[in-house]
Amino acid sequence: MSIKINIKVFFHKITSTISYVIYKDKHAVIIDSVLDFDLQNGKISSHFADKQLDFIKRHDLTLVYIFETHAHADHLTSASYLRDKTGAKIAVSANIIGIQKYFKTFYNDKALIADGRCFDLLLNDNDSVDFSGESIKVLAVPGHTNDSIALLIDGNVFIGDSLFMPDQGTARCDFPGGDATMLFKSVSKLHALPDHFILWMCHDYQPMGRKLVYNITVRESRQHNIHINERTAVAEFVKTRKNRDAMLALPKLLYPAIQVNIHAGKLPLKEENGQVYFKIPVTT
Ligand SMILES: [Fe+2]
Repeated sequence: MSIKINIKVFFHKITSTISYVIYKDKHAVIIDSVLDFDLQNGKISSHFADKQLDFIKRHDLTLVYIFETHAHADHLTSASYLRDKTGAKIAVSANIIGIQKYFKTFYNDKALIADGRCFDLLLNDNDSVDFSGESIKVLAVPGHTNDSIALLIDGNVFIGDSLFMPDQGTARCDFPGGDATMLFKSVSKLHALPDHFILWMCHDYQPMGRKLVYNITVRESRQHNIHINERTAVAEFVKTRKNRDAMLALPKLLYPAIQVNIHAGKLPLKEENGQVYFKIPVTT
């Protein structure tokens, strides 16, 4: 089988995020890019996104789409920054609207119009997006979040956070709209794809210092994933997942990340003093 697309992997070490530049002929798409945010110093930078833009420029490519596999809770997306620089369209699940509505209330976010308009393309299950003569097929994989999608391109599946490498299992399901039973169904859908298809991760946390790994065949994942494999029953998984979620701390960047990501990566507007602020809900 001839290779039709090229995949360039970028690893954002601080958030353990893997972002992809997919390219064919002179066109490119980016999946799950990151905006750097130093929480301690309140400092935003575009260092990571600029490396991707530099790659695109050096290869004389035109960026056409920026895909988000879901509203990330552990890093800020650079989607808006990339769109501003290139004119590419930001594509996300149509279920982002439910997430926007929930978090508009949560943050008391008066600036957000929660109808998906800050994104350019709202995707549904089984949609196809044309990319340089290839079809990018959208697979809804809710569970980790309700807006999670996987993107199937030429036997490669960019799966977001539904699954991790086999030694890491699955993503948490305890965010608003998350659901362990749904995740089991979504992973079963991914594991039912042809054995030789390749699953590409959005994160790898390198447990016990092992080297970075970010892809695996469907067959290997189905056989060896520690949380959901071909021998796992749904009830067993749901119990494992809930027990594990109860022990997990919130992601360090959760509050700024969601706040920015529901705006497609746009920062809050400057206040009268010219300063941008993030909100953190405080309870007593
Ligand atoms: Fe996530």
